[in-house]
Amino acid sequence: MRIILLGPPGAGKGTQGELLQQKFQVPQIATGDMLRRAVREETRLGKEAQKYMQAGQLVPDEIIIGVVRERLAAPDCLQGYILDGFPRTVVQADALEQVLTALHTPLDAVVSIEVPEEELIRRLSGRWTCPQCEEIYHQERHPPRHPGVCDRCGTQLVQREDDRPETVKQRLAVYTEQTAPLKAYYRQRGLLREIDGLGSKEEVFRRICQAMGDIP
Ligand code: AP5
Repeated sequence: MRIILLGPPGAGKGTQGELLQQKFQVPQIATGDMLRRAVREETRLGKEAQKYMQAGQLVPDEIIIGVVRERLAAPDCLQGYILDGFPRTVVQADALEQVLTALHTPLDAVVSIEVPEEELIRRLSGRWTCPQCEEIYHQERHPPRHPGVCDRCGTQLVQREDDRPETVKQRLAVYTEQTAPLKAYYRQRGLLREIDGLGSKEEVFRRICQAMGDIP
């Protein structure tokens, strides 16, 4: 099972990716999480990526393509994966297509989660995440059992630096300009499934599973 999750910041890609990973038992490859980990660990990649992420800009294609290419070659990707946050530009989509063609592993579906902008802003301003296990919470819709503490691993939750209102605005603009054109790219290839992302996370998950009903 090889799926791409597309959608603007806050659409619920991370949330749905986690549910899909549990259902299909394939890894969720979230480029944002990989980059944040590299920033925390102060690796060369992290130091390079940090300035773009803080500004709400995309990390340059040549950097992220190398990271994903390496990740897709890992043994746990043999049975498939959920790509969350990649590709984000046509250049990245073309690079992915080359890798998949070389490996004879076509995509099964590209799921685009559609959410209006006012709701995206509400979601991002209330989001808390676990820096350890990357579990995602929302202060009203999906609060942790104990305020500020991850249910899963007990780590203190944090708010992402790029969830500040001015950076969110920039990320939304970057999505519209650079990532939204990928919907046409994958529609042309007959892979696009557009999903209404409003409602509870369980409702959205049901819609995604229904939309992929033709996949064995
Ligand atoms: P990344 O981490 O991928 O951020 P993003 O795409 O902006 O997406 P988010 O993680 O903000 O949102 P999401 O859709 O996953 O929503 P979530 O499930 O958390 O990327 C960060 C940065 O890294 C980029 O800006 C860029 O700099 C860099 N980067 C990453 N990939 C790159 C690439 N390929 N190329 C170049 N640069 C790259 O949900 C959001 C909130 O809503 C949560 O609080 C959640 O609890 C809540 N929520 C979820 N579902 C629902 C629901 N159904 N109802 C109510 N609330 C909900």
